[in-house]
Order: sequence, then structure tokens, then C-alpha cells
Amino acid sequence: MTYRFVFPRTLFLTVLLLTTLFHAMLLVANPSSAQVASDSTELHSDWQGTRTWVGPGFWANPMPRWRVVDGELRGVSGRGHTVHSLTHQIEATSGAVEQSVHVRLIERGGRPGSRSWAGFSIGIRGTLDGYQNALVHPQTSVDAGIRSDGKLVLADQLGDDSVSLNGPVRLTLFVSAAGQAVLKASTEDQSEFQVRANLPAGSWVGNIALSAGTNGRGSESTWGFRDWHAGGPGLAAHPDQTFGPILWSQYTLSDATLRLTAHFPPLGTADNWRARLQLQSDDGQWADAQESEIDKLSRTATFEIGAWDATRSRRYRIAYRWRGQDSHWQGEIRSDPRDQPQFRVAVFSCDHGELFPNRRIVDNVLHQNPDLVFFAGDQIYEGYGGFGAARSAGTEEAMLDYLRKYWQFGWSWRDVLKDRPSIIIPDDHDVFQGNLWGQGGRAVPGGGTDGAAFAKGGYIMPVPWVNAVQRTQVSHLPKPVDPEPCPSGIDVYFTTMRYGGASIAILEDRKFKTGPGSVFQGRRRGSDPSRYDLPGLELLGDRQEAFLKRWAQQSSAEYFRIVCSQTIFAKASTHSGQKLRRSQLDFDSGGWPQSARDRALQCLQPAGAVMLHGDQHFGMLLQHGVDQWEDSAVAFMVPGTSNGFPRAWWPEAPGQPVPPRDSESDDATERSANARSASARSSSALADTEAKRWTGRFFDDLGNRITVFAAGNPDRGSNELKPSEERSVEAIEHRKGSGHGLVTFDRPSNTVRFELYRLLFDAESPQPDDQFPGFPVTLDLPAPPESDQ
Ligand SMILES: [Fe+2]
Repeated sequence: MTYRFVFPRTLFLTVLLLTTLFHAMLLVANPSSAQVASDSTELHSDWQGTRTWVGPGFWANPMPRWRVVDGELRGVSGRGHTVHSLTHQIEATSGAVEQSVHVRLIERGGRPGSRSWAGFSIGIRGTLDGYQNALVHPQTSVDAGIRSDGKLVLADQLGDDSVSLNGPVRLTLFVSAAGQAVLKASTEDQSEFQVRANLPAGSWVGNIALSAGTNGRGSESTWGFRDWHAGGPGLAAHPDQTFGPILWSQYTLSDATLRLTAHFPPLGTADNWRARLQLQSDDGQWADAQESEIDKLSRTATFEIGAWDATRSRRYRIAYRWRGQDSHWQGEIRSDPRDQPQFRVAVFSCDHGELFPNRRIVDNVLHQNPDLVFFAGDQIYEGYGGFGAARSAGTEEAMLDYLRKYWQFGWSWRDVLKDRPSIIIPDDHDVFQGNLWGQGGRAVPGGGTDGAAFAKGGYIMPVPWVNAVQRTQVSHLPKPVDPEPCPSGIDVYFTTMRYGGASIAILEDRKFKTGPGSVFQGRRRGSDPSRYDLPGLELLGDRQEAFLKRWAQQSSAEYFRIVCSQTIFAKASTHSGQKLRRSQLDFDSGGWPQSARDRALQCLQPAGAVMLHGDQHFGMLLQHGVDQWEDSAVAFMVPGTSNGFPRAWWPEAPGQPVPPRDSESDDATERSANARSASARSSSALADTEAKRWTGRFFDDLGNRITVFAAGNPDRGSNELKPSEERSVEAIEHRKGSGHGLVTFDRPSNTVRFELYRLLFDAESPQPDDQFPGFPVTLDLPAPPESDQ
């Protein structure tokens, strides 16, 4: 269907006159409309200097292919290569919108027959409402620009003339409230060309962007843009919708030490690379507390302040001076709630990115107001924001590629992260691997980026890159307890945090784990899982096992014991893959190697610990058994906030019931003398439903003892949902079992309550089915050891 519009000459002249008048009115009303983040209703790009980051009012797709050079925005053409305005969108067809920009073709690239174009994209809308989702999930676009052969294009219309690209060309796009559009090009010698189109109703509503596009035949031309203006009654301005130059902050407080990391964009060499942490005094005044250098690769600045008075809350802000102006990012260092009756930890993992910017879950978490948030890994996936992962690029380009993905995490969660401590640990996808058996941090022998390479054991990305990724996620954690880096130079971060009356062991359960491909070398050993439990195989490695043993036996003033790691120490799933077929052995699970898993859990027996994990894309609450049922820690695994690869716990038969505590004396005597076990106290009444049959005592597929209290599975069939069956990505993610966990440690009753929330609920208006079937579950905690009292 063609939307050719024949613009009557009189109407066109009227439109031009009105546009000119309107522009003049805007200039009078906004004589200094030079700053993107000003109160102006107009957009004015105002690029200066040289840097990869385009500025606080823009989002570049993909970020490494754009750059500001001496005030000119330069982009390499490719499918979907755009720079969106964050501050200005077309929100309704309420009035005309006019844009202009100077473009020039800097370098013609690509194969013969390839063609690129540069200009405007309007009407960019995403899979979810809002300007942020449209940045990374664009579904619609109306394009208007000049092709590398000089032809003008506007929607489905192609101009007759060929415009010279020997010099810069000024492009102007006008769209009336009725959708009558005209694209004009004027060259340095005053020649003017134009093409017109009548746009389908409302098709131009959405984000506006500059584009360096392509016809998809490998064209990589470089285009330059200057002086992007946009204005008109149809353009909505949101001056506060900026991102940067301070992107977000994340902090911990432990042992009277504050550690805080602030994130920055890829600045230019001429920019300021120092940031300050400021604290507010009781009279409201701000004072510098510390200055820190911004790391050149991770673009993070980390601050550490000792002798912190944790009994009171304090406002803080990051201060950074950029282009002559001070920017601030504010939050609150909360008082340590160690004397409060309850300590509440929210747990998240695995955000596959479909729901960016995760507004629903973030709003619910803000309402739930946890004391601490734990992100167990896969804060990003390789596919975030499109364009794949730059695994084989140099360290700097691969880091920019990672950062554009991790920014989506920080941008989503920064309102939660700024006001409470957070534990964030990377998992496999955070380091661009589909699976990660780190094998002591070595490089994968022989290279490769596929599953076979991962299984050999090691990291595929360069050491400086892995360390920089870790800095973006863990640099705000308490310092590592055993800081010697891996022989490869990859840093370690396992550590202890004391907060909220809890002693928290933060583990790395991937970095030291043996790669199965390094021991089995492709030879199948049959289905007996014990044949895969060879001597010398590692899960946590010697150093972490020694740490865990010390930590578990340590007397401490802390009342609760918590272990945080990436994945659960069991093969908790029965089904996996896009077809959700019955799975058997899974060496990626924390249930393998079994002996190493047992050693870790035996270390934990004296602690009465609650373990928190993510990774598996469904939820589960279980208690580990090593020599006997329920003789070690309770473990709570949360689903993804946006589940990707499907997994489920659908055992063929129900587990053996756990005997009531009173009739359990035989069991109790069998337990290790040191074991301090939690026990089920109450759970929401589970009728004889399928969810009930998921519970009880099981041997997992690797032969490990697990006692399942409840599981939060995906809906059956949700893995094969067709867009025609369920149109909303939120509804699909809900049915795929996405959600998050909330753990409440209660000192007066010595209990812990596990809540597992599904994606679609409203924390302000609780309903019975907000949580997965079987949740919440409340467990009695073991009595604290005498040394704790
Ligand atoms: Fe994951």
C-alpha cells in the first residue's frame, strides 16, 4: 500500500510559512535553547568535543559505532544504527513537528551495490510503552533521509533527483498534525530538493532519532551529523529524561566501611576523569568526602570511607564536573538495620532484557522496600540491545559493547540501588559466555566461543576485560577476604559482608569450577551419575572452601547467616531447553561435581545458613542433604526477572514426604552432630495440586539429596507460546515464570519467610495469587550457636 500524497502548492506554501513563523516564535520564546537538558521545548544537539558518549540526552545504537569528533556526530551505517533523543519524543498527533540536521558522507564503504543512507527516523515505538523500551526494542519506524547515491527517501517515497554529496547537505523534515510530510535537502550551492509523503495516521508517534542506515548489503559508510534541531507543537519535551554524565551508583556498608561505585559513560580524553563523593551534614550542607579517579576501561569510580557511623542514615551525592557544569547523583546511605526485628533481602537474577526498563518490577520492589538487594548474575545477556556481542573485538571495543548492555541494568535499577546496599555478582552471560566453568580463571585452551570451548574450562574474554566487567559489578562489595588474583591475573572477589544483623558469605561458584570437557574429553561414561564424580574435581576450589569453613565456624555477633552465589548446589531442574524436554546430567548445575558440592555443604553445616541463588530461570526452595536428608543449608533460588532459556522442576513422581518433626527422632540422631538445620514450620496450604507433587525428598539427577519445600515453575506450554496466542511481552514473561524473591529474616520468632513473586502483580494491592503456588514458606531457623548469644 502506497501513501503517496500530492501536496497542493498553496497548502505547501502555507505549511512552509507556518513552519517558519512557528520556528521564529520558538526562537523568541527560547532565546537560549542551547542545552539538551534545558527547559526548552526544542531539541538542539549542541555536541562539543571528542568522545564515544554522545551526551546525556541521547542513546546510541550500538554505542561503539557512534562517536562525537570535534562536535560532529559520526556514525557507521548499519541496520538499526540510530541515535535517539531521550528528552524529546512525538507523543501524539497534536501538532506539527519539524527537524533539521546537517549531514555529510565522510567515507563511502561497503561492497559494490551496497547503499547506505543518513537522516531521521521518527515514530520509533517498542514492544512496551515508553521511550526507553523503544531505544532497544524498536518495532516501528518512519525513515527520511538521503541515500549514498544522492536520492532522497521519505517513508515509501523516493525522490527523482540526485543530490550532490560532495559537501554537507542540510536536511529538513516537516510532518503536519495530519501526517503530511516533506523532506527537503539543500546543498552548499543553495540547490534545493524535496520529496513528500502522506504518512499513515499516527505512524510518526514515538521516539525521534538520527539514523545511519543501510540496504543490508554490508554497507559500512561513515556519516557525519551536526546541528540537529527539532521543534514544533507536536514535539513533547522532557528535560529530566537524561542518562549521564553520572549514570548510577551502587554501594555496600559492612564493618563500618562504606564502599560505593559510581558509573560513567565513555568520556573523551579531554574530559574530567575525576569524581567526588559528597555527604550532607545535618544543616543540609554538602561537603566533599573523597575524590576518586574514573577507571579508563570500566568507567567506574569507587570510593571507600572507613569509620562510618552506621547507626544513622546519611544523604550522599556523586559530584562530577563536565563541560563547565556540575552534575549530581543523589541517594541515601541507610542506617544499618541490625537492631531491627526484621531484615529483608530481595533476590533477583537473569534478566533476558525483554522488559527493559523493567518498570513494573522496579516499582514493586520500591514499594516492598527491602533492606538489601541481591542480583545473583546474568544482569545482562549477549543479545542485549541487539547487534550481538563483540567477543572477538579488541578489549576497548568489547568493553564498550558490554557497557552498553550493563547500562540497561543500571538504568533500570538505579532508583533501587541508590538508596540501599546491593550485592551484585556476575554469572556466565555477564562475561559473554553461555556457560562458565572458570577452571581457576585460566583462558580457555585453544580458544573458541562455542559450547565445546566453554566446557573445556576457562574464560574466553581477555583478562583486562574480565576484570573490568567485575569492577562494574563487584567493586562496591567489601574487599575480598583472600585477594590474591588467579594465576591468569583475573581478580577474585569472594568475601564477607556484615549488615542487617546478618553475616553474608559472597561466593564465586563458577570461577574455580572444573570444566567437564577437560576431564571427560567427550567420552560418555553412561547414565550413572556417580561415574562423573571423579577425585580432584572442583566446585568452589580450595581457597573458597577454606574461607567457607572459617566463616561457618566463626563466632560472630551476627544473628543470621546468609550465603550468596550464582547457582544452587543441586541439579534442581528436571526439564530444560526450548522444548522443555526431560534432561538428565547437567554439569553446569551446582550439583556437579557431587563430592565438591558435598564438601561445600558440609562446610556450611555448623552455620545454619540460608543460601540465595539465581541462574536456573525458575524458583525453588529446598534443603540440602549430604549424608542424611536435611542435614545442611536451606537454599532459595529465584527465577529470572525476565526468563530466557526455559527450565522447570517437574519430577515424574512426588518426593517422599518429610516426616513430622516429632516422629523424626531416628532421623535426627542420624544427622551430623554439627548440623544446624532449619525446618519447615508452615507454608501456604497446598492442596493436592501439581505444585504439591513437586515437593518432598528427592535425589536429583546427579544423586544429590534435596528436600523441596516449593517450586516456582513456568506455566506448561509457555515455552512455545506464539505471538498470536499472547501478544504482550509482559504476559509471555509472566507465563514463563519470571519474577523475584523476597526473604524476611525475623529475629523475635527466629524464622525466615520466603516469598516468591510472579512478574505481574501490584505490590500496592496484594492478591492471593501474586506468588507462585506453595509460597510463601516460613521456616524455623536453628537456634543460634551459643557463641552468637
Ligand atoms: Fe541465566
